[in-house]
Order: sequence, then structure tokens, then C-alpha cells
Amino acid sequence: MSEEASEPGLEKRSVFHDDIFEDRVALITGGGTGLGLEIARTLGEHGARLCIASRKTDNLEAACRELEEEGLDCMWVACDIREPEQVENVVSETMNRHGRLDIVINNAAGNFPAPVTGLSYNGFKAIVDIDLRGTYNVTKAAFEASLKKNGGHIVNISAPFQNQGVSLQAHVAAAKAGVDSLTRTCAVEFGPYGIRVNAIAPGGMEDTEGLARFADAQKEIQGGGSNPLGYIGSKRDVANAVLFLVSDAGSYITGQVFAVDGGAGIDMLKMNLPRVD
Ligand code: COA
Repeated sequence: MSEEASEPGLEKRSVFHDDIFEDRVALITGGGTGLGLEIARTLGEHGARLCIASRKTDNLEAACRELEEEGLDCMWVACDIREPEQVENVVSETMNRHGRLDIVINNAAGNFPAPVTGLSYNGFKAIVDIDLRGTYNVTKAAFEASLKKNGGHIVNISAPFQNQGVSLQAHVAAAKAGVDSLTRTCAVEFGPYGIRVNAIAPGGMEDTEGLARFADAQKEIQGGGSNPLGYIGSKRDVANAVLFLVSDAGSYITGQVFAVDGGAGIDMLKMNLPRVD
């Protein structure tokens, strides 16, 4: 198990048995680095066989090696999720190797800070193509190839700001609002197939490219770097939320977008009060 735990003094053991996903196969896009890699690791540590996919072969190779050294079953397929044929190839490679696909984590995304007027037409399009169309492409391919027949789970990694106004993120916020919408629509249409579809909206998490890149903006969102729980969460905090949703513990939950942000998003005044007793 990973040694990572964010809450000071928090037990590092998983609260789930390590075989809950035995015989299950999980596809994690953007699984070569960051949050995606940690989600892959967490699902693998609970028995899932993994396929990680992203554009960067070097990252995928290194991540797969790392996971295999940890005793996990992992394969990788390079793919740009904007390209339906490449997405279909990832899904069919996974099906060829394992004969099934049960869990889809739409984690791959693109981001850069830019004001509305500083974005080029193509810059806006690139992010909508990756974040929204990419999520759709993977969802559709996985549904057709396996989920439709066998049921399963989809978790979309969303963002914390698209329901508000946020500077420098017009392109990402628009795309993620679409992802949230797609989450709900797919939950409604796929429910009869035994497929649950949910989304996680992580705040700025420790040791991620997102936090490094948006440290100042995140501090603003999180009220000077704080939140009601008083610490910045870890990648494992997000992975654990995914784990819960795709486990039987989440059996009656579908079509929801869950913030995993230490309460930052609901802390209206961000006063960083100490305990009030
Ligand atoms: N500011 C403004 N525009 C930017 C930009 C920035 N920092 N980065 C990219 N763009 C624009 C490009 O100029 C281009 O538009 P143009 O053709 O009008 O010049 C458009 O976005 C596409 O960029 P490009 O890098 O050519 O496309 P890509 O498809 O190869 O990659 C990203 C798009 C978003 C993946 C790429 O910018 C990237 O690597 N970002 C960092 C990685 C990342 O997103 N990680 C997630 C962190 S949370």
C-alpha cells in the first residue's frame, strides 16, 4: 500500500479489503502520472487489472513498470483521447488481453491558464476537445465494447470551479461543466444497463501538476491555502473517493458530482477560523 496519507496521523491502511476488484478490469486515462497514476495504483491494490492510457509513451512505460514492481497487473496503450479510432484501439487492446472492461476512469485532461481574450480559437477548442470530447469518446467506446453487456462503472474527473466564475479557466470550466452534464445524462441512460456514472471534483491536491501550476489561484479558491479541514489533500484522497464510488459501498449512487476538496468549495467566507469551542 502507498505510504501516502494526508490527514496528520491518519491510518495508512485501506478501509477496503484488497480483493474487492478481483477479476475486474479498469481503464484509467491519463494514468501515466499524477492523479491518474494514483487512482490506478489504488484500484490495482484492491485487485483490479489495469490499463493506463495517455499520449506520452515514456510516462506510460515508467508508470506501468512502477505498478508492476509493486505487484500489480498493468498494461498500457498510447492514445490521444481526442481521436475516436485511437480510443477504440485502447478499448479493444484491453478487451483482447482481458476479455472485459468494468471500470472506466476518465481522468485525462489538459489545462493552461489564459484569460478569455488571451485564448486563441484553437486553445479553447483544444481543451474542450481533450476534456469533454475525450471523456465522451472513451465513454462511448467502453460502453459499446463491454459495459453495455456486463455493466460497470464510469468515474469522470471533473473540477471544482465550473459552477462559479473563475479567472483564467474559461476553456476548462466550460469543458468540465460539459463533463458534469455528461455524467448525469450517462447515469440516466446507462442505469438500466447496470452502469453507475459519477464524477469527482478534486480541489488542489498535494504533489500534482494542477496545484503546482495553479498554486496562487488555488490559494484564492481555498482561502489562503486553507479549507475547513485545514490541510491540502493528497492524490490518495481523490483515489479513495473513486474507490468508494466504484465499490459496492457506493451501490446506490449514480449521476453525482462529488467535491473532494476538504470543504473548500462550501466555505463561503473563508475566514480560516480556529476551533470555536
Ligand atoms: N496559453 C495560451 N494558449 C495556449 C497555452 C497557454 N499556456 N498552451 C497551449 N495553448 C494553445 C496553443 O497556442 C494552441 O493554440 P494555437 O494553435 O492557436 O496556437 C492550442 O492551445 C493547442 O495547444 P498545443 O500545445 O498545440 O496542443 P496540444 O493539443 O498538443 O496540447 C495541451 C494541449 C493543453 C495538452 C497542452 O497545452 C499541454 O501540454 N498542457 C500542459 C499539460 C496539462 O494540461 N496538464 C494538466 C494539468 S492540470
